[in-house]
Amino acid sequence: MIRLDGISKTYGRSETAVRALADICLNIRQGEAIAVLGRSGSGKTTLLDIIGTLTRPTWGKYFLRDLEIPLFSDAKTAQLRGRAFGFVFQSFNLLPDRSVYQNIALAFKYRKNRGTDINHRVENALEHVRLGHKRDANIRNLSGGEQQRVAIARAIVTKPDIILADEPTGNLDTATGSTIISLLFRLWENGRTLIVVTHDLALAKQFPRIIFLTDGQVTYDGPAESFFIPHAP
Ligand SMILES: Nc1ncnc2c1ncn2[C@@H]1O[C@H](COP(=O)(O)OP(=O)(O)O)[C@@H](O)[C@H]1O
Ligand SMILES: [Mg+2]
Repeated sequence: MIRLDGISKTYGRSETAVRALADICLNIRQGEAIAVLGRSGSGKTTLLDIIGTLTRPTWGKYFLRDLEIPLFSDAKTAQLRGRAFGFVFQSFNLLPDRSVYQNIALAFKYRKNRGTDINHRVENALEHVRLGHKRDANIRNLSGGEQQRVAIARAIVTKPDIILADEPTGNLDTATGSTIISLLFRLWENGRTLIVVTHDLALAKQFPRIIFLTDGQVTYDGPAESFFIPHAP
């Protein structure tokens, strides 16, 4: 469903240029659950943002459902992004002065929603994250875990096939983080593709497939079992 063919990304030019990704080749099938691991600065966010069409690669080809994504942004790509992807970020990225309902309904802002019952969709998404009772609460008055649940509701309310999460538990305590991960796994069990960037090895162990980045290159891509077996030197 997702195919990266020799994807590279360099930020900036000449002396100050930073090579964030180099020659990434990946195939991701529908319904996979993948943890992306690597040190800080290894290119995890850049990779996730390229997959989500938020960042353009400098070089290489990207196919989403056999459709080649152009290197230069256009309105069609934005439309496709809205349909295909739901995003969850470490910092939640919610509007603090709005209600829970308003934040989730905003997901429809960049979509043509003729015939969509937004109200009903938002209520369903809120049920999924068990926040039905907080529908009219102000974002400011929610805990971190609740805010991340709102962000997940916002990510799924448009019914995307692919959920992309960048360190979704990074700002949460361990117990709250596990709740968030269980919620993401429930989405996966419902047939969605799940790609999660994380620092947390305990969390990564639960994923069938691990992609490990080192200095912008894929240095491991395979099952979690063999990743976590201690390797002989
Ligand atoms: N917008 C940007 N401008 C310049 N350099 C960037 C930008 N975003 C990321 N980088 C650099 O690219 C490299 C990879 O960053 P990133 O993808 O954020 O890694 P990670 O998420 O693994 O920490 C780092 O060296 C980072 O400093
Ligand atoms: Mg990052």
